Amino acid sequence: MRNHSDKPVYILGIESSCDDTSASVADRTTMLSNIVAGQSVHARYGGVVPELASRAHQQNIIPVVDVAIKEAGISRKEISAVAFTRGPGLLGSLLVGTSFAKGFALAAGIPLIEVNHLQAHVMALFIQEKNIQRPVPRFPFLCLLVSGGNSQIILVRDYLEMEVVGQTIDDAAGEAFDKCAKVMGLPYPGGPFIDKLAAEGDADRFRFARPSIPGLDYSFSGLKTSFLYFLRDELKGNPDFIEQNKADLAASLQKTIVEVLMNKLVRASKELKIKEIAVAGGVSANSGLRTALRNEAEKRRWNLYVPDIAYTMDNAAMIAVTGYFKYLRGEFAGQDVVPFARTQF
Ligand code: KG4
Repeated sequence: MRNHSDKPVYILGIESSCDDTSASVADRTTMLSNIVAGQSVHARYGGVVPELASRAHQQNIIPVVDVAIKEAGISRKEISAVAFTRGPGLLGSLLVGTSFAKGFALAAGIPLIEVNHLQAHVMALFIQEKNIQRPVPRFPFLCLLVSGGNSQIILVRDYLEMEVVGQTIDDAAGEAFDKCAKVMGLPYPGGPFIDKLAAEGDADRFRFARPSIPGLDYSFSGLKTSFLYFLRDELKGNPDFIEQNKADLAASLQKTIVEVLMNKLVRASKELKIKEIAVAGGVSANSGLRTALRNEAEKRRWNLYVPDIAYTMDNAAMIAVTGYFKYLRGEFAGQDVVPFARTQF
């Protein structure tokens, strides 16, 4: 599965699974542009409002694609294929990207490629920049995929050959960050705020429930409840408890989530005898998780691969790169393809 010629293959990637409208142009695995338009409209609601998200995607998609192609320095006619996020995600949001990609492919007479958003998060590890050659993981490797909607340990056998060996049975790690942050009165999404506050706090000050789930699976709903009940009890005696202990609460919560994630990852590495370890998804931006990964890598002689922060969040660069590998295999979608909301790995 190789492109033997040096001829460029330009893939236009489209991502619209949640509240970011993104378009990117890649030449094979090299990123030429990656434009992301966020949606501030959700901030006042403390979470993403699906109806508002799809409306904002409709407004953003044409200018975002236009800028992505211009920034890549190519003409529309040079694009070889268009790849789009088919799912999982919000159906209304996915529909905007899917319809746009279909129309673009049809008008340009080029192949249409459907991409699984979760696979794409893992494939972000193969993104290259024009003047920087990044080291990429060797197969087989294990990838800890941690985002707002998923927490999974994935065994990656080849570019598009992936098997989920462990996953959350309830909430995702990102959800645990965001929901606990909401209880503390922090803005949405709360993960980055917890991360920032944690840097100044004492991580051993408070202790929250750690789940005991068999095998390589995760659970975060118990932690969320334990955090909620703990705060409710403390607030009864001191209404300013959260304000006075913000940093210690954030640091203790972050330490707990990171420990839970790392325990199962270490176990998976031992059981499957794999020392090529990677991380992907929005929560992989977390500084506590990155430090824990680096420490374990040193201790256990892992080869560790951490994507650039820009490619950990939802972005179309990862969709374009995944699309390129599907393009090499000739895996194209028909005009009758429809989005899916839930995980289909
Ligand atoms: O991958 P992503 O952008 O979207 C999904 O596909 O879900 O992940 C978003 C999640 C949110 O839950 C957000 O709070 C979390 O990633 N996140 C973080 C950090 N940056 C983003 N969580 C903890 N620490 C961070 N620095």
